Amino acid sequence: MARLKVGVLISGRGSNLQALLDACADPAFPAEIVAVLSNRPGAAGLERARAAGVAAGVVDHRAYPNRAAFEEALDRTLRDAGVGFVCLAGFMRLLTPWFVERWRDRMINIHPSLLPAFPGLDTHRRAIEAGVRFTGCTVHFVRAEMDDGPILVQAAVPVLPRDDEHALAARVLEAEHRCYPLALRLVAEGRARVAGVRVEISDAAGPAGAVLNPEA
Ligand code: GAR
Repeated sequence: MARLKVGVLISGRGSNLQALLDACADPAFPAEIVAVLSNRPGAAGLERARAAGVAAGVVDHRAYPNRAAFEEALDRTLRDAGVGFVCLAGFMRLLTPWFVERWRDRMINIHPSLLPAFPGLDTHRRAIEAGVRFTGCTVHFVRAEMDDGPILVQAAVPVLPRDDEHALAARVLEAEHRCYPLALRLVAEGRARVAGVRVEISDAAGPAGAVLNPEA
């Protein structure tokens, strides 16, 4: 079967991009990355793409007079590269409803919290301040509201007593690197179907029961 042609949008480090590149390096994985685009010229993720032999480009938002012109360029570049599905991986620009509608149900994002808790920035600091015992990450289809949309995959990560935001971020990031390839695989295999505000997943097992924190 033909592999799903994916474009990844980044703004920085690109560790989630790396997890996707690593997954796609397996010829049996049902998706391939055909383009990586950054809105920031210096994004470290661009080098990761090139090292993996994937076309990497910059669509610098500062080079356009407004958001609409920037997004038209982004959209055109993706289409010219033959992209059929978009993964946002640390892409830190808000997208307008125009762009979101053009890629509706063909664009997913990863966010470092258990949505709908803690949308936006500083998720780990806010989770620690709120005293939650679990946080985590979410891969979801993109809708016009920020960090909103039908949820594909989540991972729950414990918050431990001595965590600062860096320790917690590192633990969540490891989970992100497992979640994003899984989410992309579910989509590319045709096993994830958007049904209203939810995603239905076929032939998938969940964990057996509750996980407690603290355990005793
Ligand atoms: C990741 O933690 C991702 O979840 C987050 O930015 C980081 C990017 O890291 N995204 C958001 O906060 C989006 N709302 P990476 O560049 O190493 O993948």
